Amino acid sequence: MFNKKASDPKNKPDQIIEAIAPKPGQSVADIGSGGGYFSLRFAEMVGEGRVYAVDTNPEFLEYVKNIAREKGLDNVIPILASGDELDLPEKGLDLIFMRNVTHHIPNRVEYFKNLKRFLKPDGRIAIIEYKKGKIFTFRGLFGHHVPKETIIREMEESGYSLEKEFDFLPEQHFTIYVVKNERR
Ligand SMILES: C[S@@+](CC[C@H](N)C(=O)[O-])C[C@H]1O[C@@H](n2cnc3c(N)ncnc32)[C@H](O)[C@@H]1O
Repeated sequence: MFNKKASDPKNKPDQIIEAIAPKPGQSVADIGSGGGYFSLRFAEMVGEGRVYAVDTNPEFLEYVKNIAREKGLDNVIPILASGDELDLPEKGLDLIFMRNVTHHIPNRVEYFKNLKRFLKPDGRIAIIEYKKGKIFTFRGLFGHHVPKETIIREMEESGYSLEKEFDFLPEQHFTIYVVKNERR
């Protein structure tokens, strides 16, 4: 029910997963996990690894926890975020995934800077965010979008470099970042 949009083939979930391709044993945080469609897909892929489903809404986390249990996935860890506080392992993550959530975050540069401490040296952050919608759409009217150039600039300012970008999504932009200078 909560995963209708995320799982809709027109939003290309399989291509997103393929582009990110977490490996067995890796640790992933799905920040703003909502109904957890991607958390659960990642959990199937990382096996012995872990997926932290992070959200500010406990109802979503309860839902994700129940579905994970039904699917026999014991590697999904729900994390309740309050504001900028995140209970994630320091230097513990291979991937942070954020789909359709950055428009909810008020001080993004501070927020992104803070995320660095949870990443392993080779860790990546994948950001999918809505492009601006037409004026009379929900997105257009309520500002539920952030332009790609803004995200790239804010990530640069926060100490990341753009590693890859994809343009196969009809409504969103999709970029992947690594921490500047720390991996080369
Ligand atoms: C539009 S939904 C996207 C859900 C999911 N990522 C997806 O793609 O289907 C945005 C989610 O971000 C959560 N959220 C908003 N602010 C947040 C924050 N500061 N930290 C973590 N989650 C947040 C909301 O509760 C909501 O579940």
